[in-house]
Amino acid sequence: MKQDTIVIFDYGSQYTRLISRRLRELSIFCDLVSPSIDESFFKDRNIKGFILSGGPNSVFDKNSPKFPSWIKKKNLPILGICYGMQLLANESKGKVEKTDKREYGNAELTINSNSLIFKNIPKKNNVWMSHGDKIINLPPNFKIIAKTKNSFCAAFEHQNILGVQFHPEVDNTEYGNQILSNFALEICKTSNKWTTKNFIETSLKNIKDQVGNNNVICGISGGVDSSITATLIHKAIGSQLTSIFVDNGLLRKNESEEIMKFLKEGLGLNVLRVDASDVFINKLKDITDPEQKRKIIGKEFINVFEKESKKIKNVSFLAQGTLYSDVVESAIIKDGHQVVIKSHHNVGGLPEKMNLKLLEPLRLLFKDEVREIGKELGINKEILGRHPFPGPGLAIRIMGDVTDYKLNILREADNIFIEEIKKANLYDKIWQAFAVLTNTQSVGVMGDNRTYQKCVAIRAVNSRDAMTADWSDIPYEVLSSVSSRIINEVEGVNRVVYDITSKPPSTIEWE
Ligand code: XMP
Repeated sequence: MKQDTIVIFDYGSQYTRLISRRLRELSIFCDLVSPSIDESFFKDRNIKGFILSGGPNSVFDKNSPKFPSWIKKKNLPILGICYGMQLLANESKGKVEKTDKREYGNAELTINSNSLIFKNIPKKNNVWMSHGDKIINLPPNFKIIAKTKNSFCAAFEHQNILGVQFHPEVDNTEYGNQILSNFALEICKTSNKWTTKNFIETSLKNIKDQVGNNNVICGISGGVDSSITATLIHKAIGSQLTSIFVDNGLLRKNESEEIMKFLKEGLGLNVLRVDASDVFINKLKDITDPEQKRKIIGKEFINVFEKESKKIKNVSFLAQGTLYSDVVESAIIKDGHQVVIKSHHNVGGLPEKMNLKLLEPLRLLFKDEVREIGKELGINKEILGRHPFPGPGLAIRIMGDVTDYKLNILREADNIFIEEIKKANLYDKIWQAFAVLTNTQSVGVMGDNRTYQKCVAIRAVNSRDAMTADWSDIPYEVLSSVSSRIINEVEGVNRVVYDITSKPPSTIEWE
């Protein structure tokens, strides 16, 4: 039987992925795709409706992403969100106007219809707006179903075509989940039986189909994402997979040994360890720009994998544990014109020309969804609970150039911080914690002597999916013991600061 699906077209909004996330939370299956995708992609799906996401473009821009014309003849329900609504209006001969003033933030929505999209929602409620352009003339036969103080047409409807100017997918829209649920279940009548279990079943089948008789190598860092990727692929194709763990010299204290033990004994994978630390450290010599560091590391990883793959017969695929947050922040989305925040090395850092095809089965999932998949695959709690660690490793936690001396300082400081939060039973309550070696030297006094040494920053955040994060409220006594241990035990450091910024406006990593 074909899988019921809601197709979400991605017009490049930072929030787009949240639409699919909300639907998945409702156990509704959806595909998140580029608007230019060919209809044939869905041959194994039973499409029940379409959602056009928001995006940073204006329908007036010459190169703005277009309406996928093939969906018209399907006569299925369509929901346009923000840019998606303006696209629908434009397509149906309404009028959209460019405005200089953005409407951004909370707004009170007044519902003036009994449309199914607002079923079980109070007539007045709060929504989240984030748009510049707006609709000034409704398309013929469309009717307004809700408004706000600044938008006379905050939602419209015509038969099974609906548009909302606000963002139902963000938490600030009070009844956002209900709106998406009404669209998918009441209007599209899709089924709500999607679970991690059938994600695994579908992935196993897709991996087998995609790989055929070829062999796959999987880049493993020992983190949650790459371990789950390898376990999933191993389950699908067994001995056709060889996992390669590259020690790039940018790992934390004792990490290399621990990872190898876990991969071999814990997961039963066929793993090769390649020590490429000298190559990486040499390539990073004198490099201070974070984007350049990522690109160099990404390129070097691929070089190592390509070299190793030549030693194994018939390798055509490189598997990676790329997640959706990496994809979004690297802005790789085709046609969507997102702004690059960081080119996460395993996405934006890949060289343009590569001999291996990519296999990224977790590419559409968020971290917490991946942990669910891991649980389902039987991966142990200790591994699943490990804090995320970025592919470029400590290189992006050392401000400025990367040297062995700095790496050693950072390893020791980071290890102390983690030991102390584990001792205080905080490790599992914190989403990610680490130390950063800043490029600030500061004056201190130790004994009777003046010192002029390095400043270490410690950072701990709580997050659900890395898209946003709050700094963690670590008790003073824990911070105090971390600070005095780092100063006493790590040579070359005379100052420790705690980072109290959230994401946004900061990012989790310092680079
Ligand atoms: P940021 O710093 O972008 O981090 O707020 C969000 C999450 O992603 C991790 N991160 C990376 N992971 N390659 C990765 O595999 C990268 O280049 C990269 N940069 C950041 C970061 O540790 C956090 O969990």
